[in-house]
Amino acid sequence: MTRASGAGAPLVLGIETSCDETGIAIVRGRTLLADAIASSVDEQARFGGVVPEIASRAHLEALAPTLARATAEAGIHLADVDAIAVTAGPGLVGALLVGVSAAESLALALGKPLYGVNHLAAHVAVDRLVHGDLPEPAIALLVSGGHTSLLRVDDVTLEVTALGSTLDDAAGEAFDKVARVLGLPFPGGPHIDAAAGAGDARAIDFPRALSAHRDDEDHRYDFSFSGLKTAVVRWLEVQRRAGNPISTADVAAAFQEAVVDVLVSKALRACRDTGISTLVVGGGVAANSRLRVVLTERAEGLDVRVPPPHLCTDNGAMVAALGAALVERGRPPSAPGMGADSSMPVDTIVV
Ligand code: KG4
Ligand code: ZN
Repeated sequence: MTRASGAGAPLVLGIETSCDETGIAIVRGRTLLADAIASSVDEQARFGGVVPEIASRAHLEALAPTLARATAEAGIHLADVDAIAVTAGPGLVGALLVGVSAAESLALALGKPLYGVNHLAAHVAVDRLVHGDLPEPAIALLVSGGHTSLLRVDDVTLEVTALGSTLDDAAGEAFDKVARVLGLPFPGGPHIDAAAGAGDARAIDFPRALSAHRDDEDHRYDFSFSGLKTAVVRWLEVQRRAGNPISTADVAAAFQEAVVDVLVSKALRACRDTGISTLVVGGGVAANSRLRVVLTERAEGLDVRVPPPHLCTDNGAMVAALGAALVERGRPPSAPGMGADSSMPVDTIVV
């Protein structure tokens, strides 16, 4: 057995509170022992988006019971852990601070090393729990409500470089906004995904931004989704004014196809340009069923790694997975009093 999976592998507690999910998980190397989660999404739903104050308060209330669930499920005592990892950024500052303060207190009380880690690198690292260690270098496509990034991962514990990102809305944000104009509940991604299943993606030709050849030089790996969202709103206005019947399924399918087409095209372009043959996908939008199908259809010859949907959305397992990789590769922990960094750059992996 290797150090990453056997009895000698590090036992790591991971804490995630960067947005609206309180995630606490325990891994031993690459083995997930417990993954406890509490979400304030139902409370957020009536506001149609994440309200930072509600998220912070919900994290405070959920932290202790979620921690207790995780240790019970893993059958361990907190004193057994070798290290603690916590999301230190990027994210909502108040929400991040709840997790970081809790992790700092635990690390101090237990005398354990603490790693304040980057949320985006954690989205990449979670895949090691499912498919084994990532062959490096790899390209990562991260698509969620808060971020849309293409990354080059030379070492998930040391060297991650941004190739491109969204210039405006994140992919998940576009799903949520289009769902809202279609009268679907928040968060909209899963509802659009479900509605699209009965629709015709070719019924409406929505724009694919920054895909034309002339955009290539400046924004080869960047994304833009606000124009697509506006195109959907305009199209709906025109149809409503004309008194035409509107098929929610067709709009959902055509919109989803436009997003998926751009995400897959740019991710494959990054792999082709760099000659890198491993693509890992993460973030809530990676749960999208059409994205998963199109990726496998178009990524011939590439090793495409997409974790199961519950590990794509925010969770504690991703943070624990990165923490264990940091311990295994002998990286130094964070300094005491590290704090949180709401706009942590992607190339900072540990604060
Ligand atoms: O990673 P995540 O849980 O939290 C953030 O860091 O944002 O991602 C949440 C986002 C939401 O915008 C949600 O609508 C989207 O992921 N999402 C989906 C699907 N499931 C979740 N988008 C498209 N299709 C899905 N099946
Ligand atoms: Zn995330």
